[in-house]
Amino acid sequence: MTDIESIRSALPQLVEEAKRQLRDATDLESFVEAERALLGKRSPLAALNATLKDLAPADRGKAGEAINEARSQLAEFAGSLRREREAESNRRRVDAERLDLSEITAGPRRAPLGFSDNAVGHLHLVNQTRDELEDTFIAMGFDVVEGPEAETDWYNFEALNMPPDHPARGMWDTLYLRLGSPETVLLRTHTSPVQVRLMESAKLPIYAVMPGRCYRRDTPDARHLPVFHQIEGLVVDEGITFGDMAGVIEAFTESFFGEGMHSRLRPSFFPFTEPSGEFEVTCPICGGGGCRTCSGSGWIELGGCGMVDPNVFEATGIDPERYSGFAFGFGIDRLAQVRTSLADMRVLLDNDIRFLSQF
Ligand code: PHE
Repeated sequence: MTDIESIRSALPQLVEEAKRQLRDATDLESFVEAERALLGKRSPLAALNATLKDLAPADRGKAGEAINEARSQLAEFAGSLRREREAESNRRRVDAERLDLSEITAGPRRAPLGFSDNAVGHLHLVNQTRDELEDTFIAMGFDVVEGPEAETDWYNFEALNMPPDHPARGMWDTLYLRLGSPETVLLRTHTSPVQVRLMESAKLPIYAVMPGRCYRRDTPDARHLPVFHQIEGLVVDEGITFGDMAGVIEAFTESFFGEGMHSRLRPSFFPFTEPSGEFEVTCPICGGGGCRTCSGSGWIELGGCGMVDPNVFEATGIDPERYSGFAFGFGIDRLAQVRTSLADMRVLLDNDIRFLSQF
């Protein structure tokens, strides 16, 4: 049936029809599909190729050449059209993800509930969390106090019962500043130095929380940032007991995380508190039932706490015979991570507006 003439006369129409189909596939995805159908193993051109064996042997070469020619013509056409389609799809994606920060207008300090429009700027998730923590403690009768981020060795370590060369300093990988004699000025590794400043200067009693930025010589990973935030709590008054501390932590837990959320203490060690504890709260993700976030335990470790060590009172000029107190501290970023189920903390530093605008 087949002869070289019918092949030759079928080709132009076949190519034209194929080109039309390619032109009609306007988005990249359907274009790729059409390209495969028209140039691949199951294409009409391939089918035509398969008929070559039915031709007279003398005609096979020429007919094959004609088919190849048509195929490369079509392939070239498809190639240039594909580049256009790719450029277009790229443009569309860039357009969709386009960020013009000059379009972000200063909105209310916090975007209204349910308002996720990028056109309104709002506080970073960590600062929102810090605000909420401050509000919670203010409602419980605490003052909010801040201290410097560049500290001296005295405030960050020595007054906190860690004389030079004390092995417990190794609990904090410290970044030192080239100021004064070597290793005397540093970026605070925790908010506890603000306790010292408060005890040195304030009138007693003290009921205060101290939020702020801290620094450690840590490589960023899913659970560590070299720059992070803590909030410290300090109570110093006459007759303050360990029971008061447990009660305050429990009251905070209920008020911040909501009804039915509880806290518990485990023994631990800090040089500036004695006795010391770690405190855990009901896992905010599963409500205590056990999930991946809390490794099935129902509890999340939040921070450290303990009764102020008499040596700290002595260093700050408070009479340990008359006063007692407790302190606690925990990471704000870590809390934000747990509450919003962030797999990796580093997104908090990326400043990618697609992340930021979710909160
Ligand atoms: N400063 C401690 C830390 O960074 C936490 C803490 C604060 C522990 C107050 C006890 C009392 O790990």
